[in-house]
This record gives sequence, C-alpha cells and structure tokens, in this order.
Amino acid sequence: MASLGNAHITFIGGGTMAEALARGILGRRLAAPGQITVSEPLAERRAQLAEALGVVVAEENAEAVRGADIVVLAVKPQVAGAAVPPLREALRREALVLSIMAGVRIGTLEGMLGPIALVRAMPNTPGQVGEGITAWTRTPAVTDAQAEQARTLLSALGDEVEVAGEDYVDMATALSGSGPAYVFLFLEALVDAGVQMGLARPVAERLALQTVRGAAVYAQQSPLHLAVLRNMVTSPGGTTAEGLFALEQGGLRASVTQAVLASYRKARKLGGMDTA
Ligand SMILES: NC(=O)c1ccc[n+]([C@@H]2O[C@H](COP(=O)([O-])OP(=O)(O)OC[C@H]3O[C@@H](n4cnc5c(N)ncnc54)[C@H](OP(=O)(O)O)[C@@H]3O)[C@@H](O)[C@H]2O)c1
Repeated sequence: MASLGNAHITFIGGGTMAEALARGILGRRLAAPGQITVSEPLAERRAQLAEALGVVVAEENAEAVRGADIVVLAVKPQVAGAAVPPLREALRREALVLSIMAGVRIGTLEGMLGPIALVRAMPNTPGQVGEGITAWTRTPAVTDAQAEQARTLLSALGDEVEVAGEDYVDMATALSGSGPAYVFLFLEALVDAGVQMGLARPVAERLALQTVRGAAVYAQQSPLHLAVLRNMVTSPGGTTAEGLFALEQGGLRASVTQAVLASYRKARKLGGMDTA
C-alpha cells in the first residue's frame, strides 16, 4: 500500500470530514499521528481530536500551515472567504493544497492563495466509514508525485477517481456527492413498502439495506452489464417482472435522470458557472 512518506499534513477545520480523513489515514497506516496537524477554533473539539486520534492540534490556521507539505481545506464553503486568504503568506511554495469544500472553484481558491499546486476533491458521506468515493482534479502546477500523494490521502475515505477537469467534479457532485441521499430515499421507500405488507420494521430494514449493499457489491465484482444482471433475476412471467414494470410506469429511470441533472445545474449555479 502507498504511504504518505514523511509528509506533514495540516487540516484547516477539524469537523466531520477532517476527522474521517485523519482516521482513515491513521487506520490505514498511511502516516503517523505526529505527521498530522488539525487547526480548529473550538477548544473542546481540539481536545477531543487530540485525545481520540493523537494528532497535533492548533488554534492558529496560518501557524499550522507553516512547514506543511499538504494542506487540506476542510471548512464549510461559507467560511472559505474568511479562513483561506490568511494562509497565503504562510504556505510553503512547494505545498500541495487539497480542497474538499463543496462548490468552491479552483479559480476562487487561486484568487485567495495565488499560484499554488491545487487539488479540488468531492468526497461523499460514506467516506466516514471508509466506503466513500471521491472525484478529484488537479491544476497543472501539481506534480505527479503530489498527485500520487493526493490519491493516497483520498483513498483514506474509500475509492477515488481522478477526473479531467472541474466540470467533471460538478458532475460527480450531482452523482456521487448527492447520490447517498438518493439511495437513502430509495431505501426508505423499500422499508416502508415492506412495513405496509406486514413485515416488522427492523426486519424490513435489514432486508432492504443488505439488498442494496449486496446488489452493489455483486455488480462491482461481476463483469456483466447491469442490464444483464437485472435480466438474470427477471424470470418470464415472474414476480420481479411485475415489480420492474411498476417501477418503469412510475418513471423511476426518468426521475433519477432528472434528479441528477437538476443537482448538476444547481452545482454549476452555486459555483457561479450558470446564472439561469
Ligand atoms: N460531509 C460530507 O460528506 C462532505 C462531502 C463533500 C464535501 N464536503 C465538504 O467538506 C467540508 C467540511 O465538511 P464537514 O461536514 O466536515 O463540516 P464541519 O463538520 O462543519 O467541519 C468544519 C469545521 O471547520 C471548523 N471551522 C470553522 N471556521 C474555521 C476557521 N476559520 N478556521 C478553521 N476551522 C474552522 C468548524 O469549527 P466550528 O464547529 O467551531 O465552527 C468545524 O469543526 C465542507 O466544505 C463540505 O462542503 C463534505
């Protein structure tokens, strides 16, 4: 397994995602606790992170990035305008900045930090249990070695995929970033349908959750096209065929497409790309 070598990693913001990343890095032994600094304004939270993870904690963002090889921007996007510009003077010229802030564009970050090696990444919430998928892209200033470091660091949340530009990060935002919410809604519907038939809710939940998980793992491991896998459970004149017909009548495929496209339009609008 790749490691982060001796790289020093500083997180700006010690919230949910920073903790998930730091936990993943330590759990996979990609770096030692002493290589990680988390800068976070809340004293109670700093104490919690130091105690739980053994990482170095800091109160002053600019101080925390001095000497860092990788700086992870993990504050809420609304806070970027206040938290990011003061880092500019303290950043090492060879540092890699990795932003996981949703919707904050590379151009905006370059405006705040100047010319810098920058990776913009879009993780998703299953990263908190190491089952996430992160789409990421890099600026030309990022060296291949830094890109490998970004890849290794993001693998702490699960799978990762490099995409060729920011437009694709917006597309991933709509598909895999928002995707868990779509799946949760589908799961709720499955569970409620089970309860409506007469299954106990805990039983319906177990059936629904493992069905979705199992189907995803099976599809990932199978070389067959999704449509072939679907046909394999659809016997002529059988129960699944009835269910699938009802889903198509309800417009499932079109609804999912509309949901992802609407989310994509919103991601572009929030990033200032579209005003319509
Ligand atoms: N959660 C996800 O699955 C997910 C997915 C994709 C992208 N993201 C992105 O990841 C970023 C972090 O999300 P999150 O869920 O981890 O948010 P979060 O839990 O709110 O974490 C943000 C942390 O930053 C701290 N903070 C606030 N102002 C700061 C400042 N000026 N300097 C340093 N730290 C500061 C906050 O402290 P206080 O609590 O004291 O304010 C909080 O601990 C967001 O930009 C989000 O868009 C998250």
